[in-house]
Order: sequence, then C-alpha cells, then structure tokens
Amino acid sequence: PAEEPIRQYYFMAKCREWVRNFEREKGRFPTACVTTFGCQMNARDSEKLSGILEQAGYRLTEDENADFVIFNTCTVRDNANQRVYGRLGELNGYKRRNPDMKIALCGCMMQEPAVIEKLKKSYSFIDLIFGTHNIYKFAELLYASFRQEEMCSFGQKGMIIDIWKDTDKIVEDLPVERKYPFKSGINIMFGCNNFCSYCIVPYVRGRERSRRPEDILREVEGLVGEGYKDITLLGQNVNSYDGGVRFPELLQRIDAIPGDFRIRFMTSHPKDCTQELLDVMARCPKVARHLHLPVQSGSDRVLGEMNRRYTTAKYLDLVAYAKKKMPDLSLTSDIIVGFPGETREDFQQTLDLVREVKYTALYTFLYSRRSGTKAVSFPDPVPPEEKSRWFQELLEVQGKIGEGYMESQVGSIFRVLVEGPGKGEGMLASRNDQNVIVEFPGPAELAGSFAQVEITSAKNWALMGRLTGQGEAR
Ligand code: 5AD
Ligand code: SF4
Repeated sequence: PAEEPIRQYYFMAKCREWVRNFEREKGRFPTACVTTFGCQMNARDSEKLSGILEQAGYRLTEDENADFVIFNTCTVRDNANQRVYGRLGELNGYKRRNPDMKIALCGCMMQEPAVIEKLKKSYSFIDLIFGTHNIYKFAELLYASFRQEEMCSFGQKGMIIDIWKDTDKIVEDLPVERKYPFKSGINIMFGCNNFCSYCIVPYVRGRERSRRPEDILREVEGLVGEGYKDITLLGQNVNSYDGGVRFPELLQRIDAIPGDFRIRFMTSHPKDCTQELLDVMARCPKVARHLHLPVQSGSDRVLGEMNRRYTTAKYLDLVAYAKKKMPDLSLTSDIIVGFPGETREDFQQTLDLVREVKYTALYTFLYSRRSGTKAVSFPDPVPPEEKSRWFQELLEVQGKIGEGYMESQVGSIFRVLVEGPGKGEGMLASRNDQNVIVEFPGPAELAGSFAQVEITSAKNWALMGRLTGQGEAR
C-alpha cells in the first residue's frame, strides 16, 4: 500500500531519536552488522535491512561484535541452518561483554515453526525475530525492540517474534544501502509456485508475486542514472514473471533503457524457459551471454520424482537452440546428488548430461532432507558414503570440462566490468559477459568501469589477461 513506506519512515525517525540518545549517553554512534546467508535474493534483502539501519542512524560495520547484529538466514539445505546455530553461540559471547547489544534474526529459516521453537527454548538471548514476508516492517520492529527494553526495566522480558505465514503485499520505496556502486540485483518477483519435491523455498518464501513493470523500469533507470553497469533481475523463477507483461517483454523494455550497462537474470526454470526468451536474449545487446538453467538431474525418472515437469530431451533441445542462437553463451546449472531413490544408473545419466552440455560452471549439492517437503517421505536407501563418492565423481568430471572451457578462451578479447583489486599484487578482478572472473594488471581507478581485455592464460578459477582498451564496444 502507498501509505506503508510513510509509516516505516515514521518508525525510522523514531529509531533516530533513540540513536541520538545512545550517542548522548555513550559519546559514540551505535554500530550495526548485517550478516547474510544464502542466495542473491537474501543478499538483496540485506541491502534493504542495511538501508533502514543507516536511516535509523546506525554506523554499519562488518564486525559482528557490534551494538546491533542481524543474521539474514537461509534454510535451503540443513548445513545453512547449522551454520546459523554455530554463529549464534559466538554472538552470545559478545553479548555477555556488551549487555547493550541486540541480536536479531530474519529470513527463510525463521519461517519454520520448529526453528522458532528451538530458538525460544535454547537461545533466549535473541531480541528480535521476523520472517521473509514482513521484512518491510523492519523499522517498526526495531523500534518495538527499543520499547521492549524500556518495558524490561518494569519486569517484562522476552524476544519479539513476528512471523507471517504468507503475504500478497509488495512494498516499494523503502531505503536501500547497495553493497557495490556499480553492480546490483533487483527483485522482479518474489516467491515460488513450483513445489519441486525436495525444495523448501515455496514454504518459506510463499506464492509468486510479480512487481509492476513500471516500478522495475523506474528502479533500473535510477540505477543506470547513478552509474550502475551490471544489473541482475532476481526471482526464484524469473520465467514465470507476470506483472501484466511477461518476462521476455520485460527484458526487452529494460534493454531499451538508454545507457551503457548489462543485464543479467536468475533463476530460469527449464519448464518455463522458451525459445522466445532465448530469441530475445540473442537480440538484446545489453543482455549478458550467460544463462543459469538448473537441470537438477540427468535422469527423467528422477526429474519426475522431483516434480520438475520437463524431460532431459526438452532440456537438451533448449540448450541446443540457445547455443545455436548465441555461440558465445555460457551455461551454468544446479545439480542435486543423492535425491531419494536415485540409483547409480540415474546418476550415470546425470554425468552423461553434464558431459554433453559442457557447462562453464556447476553448483552441485548433496541432497538435504527438508521437513515439510514431499521428498521427505520417499524411501532413501543409498548410504551417505556412496552419495559422497558420486558427488566427488561429478566434481571431477565437471572439473575437467571447466578447465577445457577456460583453456578454450585463451586468445579471446572480452569486454569486462572491473570490480576491484584482484588476488595478485597490482591485479584487477573483473567479470566478462559470461560471468567468468577475469584478472589483469591495471590501475585501481578502473574499478566500476568497462575495459577490454585479451586473455593470455587460464587458471581453473579465473582467466588471466592484459588490458587492450577501455570501455569500447562489446
Ligand atoms: N537439497 C539439496 N539441494 C537443494 N536445492 C534446493 N533444495 C535442496 C535440497 N533439499 C538446490 C537446488 C536449487 C539450489 C538453489 O539449491 O539445486 O536449484
Ligand atoms: Fe525450489 Fe523448484 Fe521453486 Fe526453485 S523452482 S525455488 S528449486 S521449488
């Protein structure tokens, strides 16, 4: 609703009063640290949290020994949850030494009732907990936690917990503190309707909601005006974007915005990725030559059990069409190893598919049981050690393919966006259109601008090159 941002700015002003009091009392500004777990959507949400903290008067820091610490959590696999519990223990140590410290938790993990029960029982030092659907209310909740403190002195105590089951709201126009001055993600949609049988995201992020195209275009125009050069359109499944216009049309409209910048998007679901989208990609000069198209498995039987709703034949057709239209396209993918009931034969088909597609890079995951999802009830007879062996095998197969890809790029000339210092002395780190890291010697002032680089050698994690020009054509 249009009035919601006004309400939240009101609470930011109230928080500022509290911060001024803190400063008067202690002779310094309070510090705040936002720690992000998980995906780019979470990273984007953290920029919103940082924006609000900054408006409230906090000084942002990367040091978790701060006056306010918030963990923006992920729950897509269990190891993400375990990391949060471990780090909370450390925070408790800091809080004992700094009793003014406040600890907050938000994000996907908080949408799980079992997690909240555990936190209430064993982590009573936490001050504030909220979920994914009401993050726009952060200023209001922060203020409530200050008030809670006042009430505590009258004997009331406890954490503030505000979790919503779902929402149909999208609140625009809240402050954001973007992490980089030249590249940024922007949300085009929230939530997911696909219910892949292994995945918890639809339960913790809710149903799909698309932002209005005019709001998206306004945000991109604003960023381009400020000099941003790399913009990633974010959504759990951008191909099912529907804000009145569909995704290929949105992409064309963004491509038509004047200015020198490039457009990326993620993630694409193969069942909704169309030839029309690939045609638009090929036609639009600002759309980067990179497609992240998670296949998850190379076995049609497993894909069926996963509820992915495409076959490997359809997937390979899409890949062939994409490569024909864009010979310089880089393809990346997500793969799950050890899905319940996956056999050696199924896994062999995954290896075959990986060899056939020749991905630039793969994000590989061991299957992790998520309570509430359908796959939890599937029989899972393969022992973990066997799954780990398959996982290693996949890494080795992809390792060689990735190396081959990197080697084949030597001699190419790329237009890259310089991001900052590289790993070696005097080196700059940059990314090309294909989203591959390119390092080369050059002056630090190039950060944030396009440069032209000739590739002279390849490592497994990056291409090495030399500067041949600044900024010119792709
Ligand atoms: N176990 C392992 N990997 C998972 N992913 C999603 N859910 C699970 C799970 N339960 C992976 C998928 C998805 C990526 C973001 O995380 O590959 O594409
Ligand atoms: Fe999870 Fe599937 Fe939705 Fe991706 S498309 S978020 S894997 S349910």
